[in-house]
Amino acid sequence: MTPPHRQAPGRRTAVLRREAVLATVPFAVAALLAAAGPAAAGTIGASGAGDPYFPFSGNGGYHVKHYDLTLRYDTTGRHLDGKAVLTARATQKLTRFDLDLNGLKVTRVTVDGTTAGFRRSGQELVVTPRHALREDREFHVTVSYSGTPKPVSDPDGSADGWIPTDDGAFVAGEPQGAMTWFPANNHPQDKSSYDFTITVPKGRTAVANGVLRGVRTVNGHTTFRWHQAEPMAAYLATATVGKFKTEQYTTGDGIQVFNAVDSREARAAAPVLKKLPSVLKWESRLFGPYPFRAAGSIVDHAPDVGYALETQSRPLYDSAPDVSTLVHESAHQWFGDSVSLTAWKDIWLNEGFATYAEWLYSEQHGGDSAQKSFDALYARPAANELWAFPPGDPGSGKNIFDTPVYARGAMTLHELRKAVGDHDFFRILRAWATEHRGGHGTTAQFVKLSERISGEDLSGLFHTWLYAQGKPSTA
Ligand code: TRP
Ligand code: ZN
Repeated sequence: MTPPHRQAPGRRTAVLRREAVLATVPFAVAALLAAAGPAAAGTIGASGAGDPYFPFSGNGGYHVKHYDLTLRYDTTGRHLDGKAVLTARATQKLTRFDLDLNGLKVTRVTVDGTTAGFRRSGQELVVTPRHALREDREFHVTVSYSGTPKPVSDPDGSADGWIPTDDGAFVAGEPQGAMTWFPANNHPQDKSSYDFTITVPKGRTAVANGVLRGVRTVNGHTTFRWHQAEPMAAYLATATVGKFKTEQYTTGDGIQVFNAVDSREARAAAPVLKKLPSVLKWESRLFGPYPFRAAGSIVDHAPDVGYALETQSRPLYDSAPDVSTLVHESAHQWFGDSVSLTAWKDIWLNEGFATYAEWLYSEQHGGDSAQKSFDALYARPAANELWAFPPGDPGSGKNIFDTPVYARGAMTLHELRKAVGDHDFFRILRAWATEHRGGHGTTAQFVKLSERISGEDLSGLFHTWLYAQGKPSTA
């Protein structure tokens, strides 16, 4: 069973996959060296966040508090003009620092209003401010850029980032694609608030994260202003553009909902999107209060994409989702969005949890029990792809969206539930979302929390299900 919200890996072409592998091996070695090097220099911000799966993702030496992005997209010419103003804080003295930006042409960089030196090196935009920034100092970086954004090809062959569609762009940044459309500290370790001001030809809608602050049409162009107040990882940002039917309402719990639906998907999407308030309410009962003030859905018609993304506050679908996919992306708002990864190897904390939410939804809404979902998977023979690697250690960025992460990740939670009982299990899920709300969590912290709440030694269980190679023999 490939999770329904994404296509089977086999759908991606063999050629793409082979190219990706060839490109990855020497690149990863060089990248590790490069990422390790500059940190030692003392006043130069590192070119990576230290994640071995994506060595150049993120940067060291500063934290971005806020992104103010002003974008203008020409849907016919596929040309993007952008200006990004980052409010950041130096976490060390900085004579130089990097941002991540892939492609596009940078015309000017300023630091605190003064023109700064810059150069491009792969996905790094290397910035040299006129004056060194002392540790703890708050500073503003402005980057002016333009060009035709191109998606990045991930190690597994899938495309992410700014993906053009026939009427706009499908903008999904997991794991690396944020840097295809704005300069960023592009790793989930760094979370920030965002403002978006996006101008598109009249008749198109630009949908980003958070609440809609304003819409204004002047001279055949419409500008949409969005505000994402709660901290967000760069990969969860979107600025999806298309011809959309839109709808806005506030739920009984005061959550501001904004839906945007491609008319080609409208009929199939309507009955599913209608369930969003009840799904969020059901999840709030299980996981604790919904973590954001805004919600909604973006249903695009992007047949080549092959996956959905839990863009913060407003998941993005490449076609009309089914209820299970809506439940999955909604569960990510707690697990993955509000509680972020510190390293991509912990991806099961996102995908295993969101998949287990699907099982729970089914169990509590007249469908299969979680035990039945578990049993169907456990019946797969030892040679099945499900057992190809343990979910706690996918091995490389190439594997982070494969079946073991989703399915064996969810099986791990089911084993935990059976070991500690329903009462403690649901206390654990809720405590995880509550104690790490708006921040980060690691697998080690989750294990510790589970042991604290249950009072049991769970090291054997987690070792077997998260880290042991092959099909676990004890079910
Ligand atoms: N996180 C998405 C989900 O499961 C899936 C996803 C995002 C994905 N980006 C991807 C899958 C790239 C494959 C390739 O909800
Ligand atoms: Zn997911």
